[in-house]
Amino acid sequence: MSTDAFTTTNSGAPVASDEHSQTVGADGPITLHDHYLVEKLAQFNREKVPERIVHAKGGGAFGTFVTTHDVSAYTRASLFQPGASVDMLARFSTVAGEQGSPDTWRDPRGFALKFYTDEGNYDLVGNNTPVFFIRDGIKFPDFIHSQKRLPGTHLRDHDMQWDFWTLSPETAHQVTWLMGDRGLPASWRHMDGFGSHTYQWINAEGERFWVKYHFKTHQGIEILSQTDADRIAGEDADFHIRDLSEAIKRGDYPSWTLSVQIMPYADAATYRFNPFDLTKVWPHADYPLHEVGTMTLTRNPENYFAQIEQATFAPSNFVPGIAASPDKMLLARIFSYADAHRYRVGTNHAQLPVNAAVSPVNSYSKDGAMRHGFNSEETPVYAPNSHGGPHADPARFGNDAGWESDGELVRAAATLHADDDDFGQAGTLVREVLDDAARDRLVANIAGHVSKVTDAALRQRVYQYWTSVDATLGARVAAAVEPSAPGSNEQPEAVGIGE
Ligand code: HEM
Repeated sequence: MSTDAFTTTNSGAPVASDEHSQTVGADGPITLHDHYLVEKLAQFNREKVPERIVHAKGGGAFGTFVTTHDVSAYTRASLFQPGASVDMLARFSTVAGEQGSPDTWRDPRGFALKFYTDEGNYDLVGNNTPVFFIRDGIKFPDFIHSQKRLPGTHLRDHDMQWDFWTLSPETAHQVTWLMGDRGLPASWRHMDGFGSHTYQWINAEGERFWVKYHFKTHQGIEILSQTDADRIAGEDADFHIRDLSEAIKRGDYPSWTLSVQIMPYADAATYRFNPFDLTKVWPHADYPLHEVGTMTLTRNPENYFAQIEQATFAPSNFVPGIAASPDKMLLARIFSYADAHRYRVGTNHAQLPVNAAVSPVNSYSKDGAMRHGFNSEETPVYAPNSHGGPHADPARFGNDAGWESDGELVRAAATLHADDDDFGQAGTLVREVLDDAARDRLVANIAGHVSKVTDAALRQRVYQYWTSVDATLGARVAAAVEPSAPGSNEQPEAVGIGE
């Protein structure tokens, strides 16, 4: 900006002063018609939009996704065709903390991606864990209430958290991830990302497949100890925002390889786990990874509010060749996010530059607060019309994404598959994936957290929960928390305020 630029009102007119309000005499009252003062104060009062109800604290960057391997046999999505390269945006976040909360509180991390493709925006709104706490979206508000704050004191509450978790045994797998090393990534650059849900891919012939997305960090997995995370929380609440921003500024661009697990459509019915249960993974021995491409983040936002706070990622933003699955969590999210965006950012949030598609938008929706873009005046405002307006093309984009469903309306748990239960995969994670040191840290982390539970009967329920995951783990946690318990030489890890 040139140094002789002068201050203007929001409407562009030069202003008289940035220092003095207009008053009746130097010591007199302020005039209401000092509209510049009024504009400054009124705009200031409106600087915030509501923070995200979850994942409020975060940061992000722009970059590119390049498809390096041929997966066209499984999807016709244009962004996943060999050699395709699309611009993208990533936003990383904690879940429960509010906007100013420390980046290093123990929590899953959000891993939200927006791909600006030539067939519309594709959003993949995932986490740094492959599973989630619950398997039916109807429980989500209750789950989040239990992790946030008490209504009276406005304090977070360990009793409330463990009460919900132990009454909802399907949480065990995700809580094991959360209490383990992955609950404290050293930075957003040093963690993997997952689409978590099972999604559907459709190829050019209309064949359908079930897929799970895995983003493997090229920076390597690095974690923080609980002690370091607590210290950093006090010293630099924005540690992860700063890390990403500074890495990109110095040209150290973080990148990830995307691979997918692919399940033939018909396998879903007989697979040993319900493949649409978000509390389960598909073991790689059953469905190995197929490499797809590379995502690299290369550009910091120029304006955090315009490009990150107002960014809207929605699991309903699919493109041809990619669709939903019967996962009940995914189906709930497909409603929830676009609704949140209309409330949080506004009816026309999709017209903001960060959210706008780079492909033509021929929607028949019109008007609404802050409408900015519009069609030519000759374009009809209704469909069908006899004036050559845009029309849906069922032959190209019709009925091939979906699944068979024909039954009575019920409220019931999904059908159990042979190996389905709430604790099995969590137990496998503890026994077969973690090594001794990671298991020791898991015990210390859980014990540190549970030692803040005040209700003795609830603590007993917590030990039973961990015993159901793994008998040795349950006994070690109990021994670490209860000083009087037999064999109680385990040490709980000190926990930070976010815990
Ligand atoms: C953010 C709802 C489950 C990942 C949000 C937001 C809502 C929401 C309303 C705020 C959106 C906004 O204001 O822009 C739900 C519901 C769920 C659910 C109802 C369950 C039915 C999940 C799951 C994941 C996830 C399973 C990951 C696998 C995220 C992420 C964000 C987010 C990463 C932040 C997006 C961003 O960076 O803007 N969720 N969520 N959520 N959710 Fe969920």
